Amino acid sequence: MAPKPLPEGKGGFPVPSHVAIIMDGNGRWAAMRGLPRIAGHRAGADAVSRCLHAARDAGVDYLTLYAFSSENWRRGPAEVADLTSLLRYYLRYKVAELHRENVRICFIGETERFGQDLVEELERTERLTAGNTGLTLVLALSYGGRAEIAGAARRLAEAVRDGKIEPSAVTEDVFSRYLLTAGMPDPDLIVRTSGEHRLSNFLLWQSAYSEFVFLDVLWPDFDESHFSSMLKIYASRERRFGGRPG
Ligand code: IPE
Ligand code: IPE
Ligand code: MG
Repeated sequence: MAPKPLPEGKGGFPVPSHVAIIMDGNGRWAAMRGLPRIAGHRAGADAVSRCLHAARDAGVDYLTLYAFSSENWRRGPAEVADLTSLLRYYLRYKVAELHRENVRICFIGETERFGQDLVEELERTERLTAGNTGLTLVLALSYGGRAEIAGAARRLAEAVRDGKIEPSAVTEDVFSRYLLTAGMPDPDLIVRTSGEHRLSNFLLWQSAYSEFVFLDVLWPDFDESHFSSMLKIYASRERRFGGRPG
C-alpha cells in the first residue's frame, strides 16, 4: 500500500502523524546538579507537559512516550518505587487537565507488574479519556518490544489452536492486530534524547520504517525549541519505503 501523503503543518512542512520519544537522561541531569536521580525524573515529568503541548500545537496525532522499560525493573526497588509514585502523582494531578484539553490517554506495556491499584487507575484514565478527539498520548510503561512480539505470537497461537484463524491467514496485518499498538499508526518519527543511539527494546516491530532523530539534550531540559527542531529534521528527510528516490 502506498504511504499517505503527509499533512502540512503550520510552517508549511510535513508533520509526522505519530511521534515516539525515548525520554532519556534524567539521571545524568540530576547527577550534574548533585541531586538524587528522582529529582531528574521529577524534572522529566515537567518536560513531558512541555512536549505534549508542543506536539498538540504542531498538529501531531499520536505521541508515544517511553516512560519505563521492561528492563527498568533492574534499577532496584528504591528507584522503581520513586518512579511509581511519580507516575501515581502525575495521574492524580494531570489527567483531569489533559481530559479538559481533549487528550486521549492509552497505556502499553506489562502494566500489571505495577500492582492492581495502579492498573485500576490506568484503566480509569483510559475509560475517562476514550472519547476524546484531540491528541492521543500513549504512555509505554513496563514496555518491551520483544515481550510485546512474544505476547502477540502467543495469543495468535492460541487463536490458531482454538480454530479461530488458519495459519495461512497470518499476515503482517493480522499479526499487528495482536500487538499492544493494534489500531495505531506506526511511528513516523522516533526521537531519543541524551545522546544515546539505541532503541533499548522500544517499538521493535513498529519502527520498521520510522525516521530516527537523536538529540543531545537531556530529557529534563527538553522544551518546545527541541520539538520544533526535530520536526524540521524530520521534514528534511526523504521517506522511500523501499521505493525509488523521489
Ligand atoms: C530516563 O532517564 C528515565 C527512565 C529510564 C525511567 P534515565 O533514568 O535513564 O537517565 P540516565 O540515562 O541515567 O541519565
Ligand atoms: C530507555 O532508557 C527506557 C526509557 C527511556 C524509559 P534506559 O536509560 O533505560 O536505556 P539504556 O539502559 O541506557 O539502554
Ligand atoms: Mg537512561
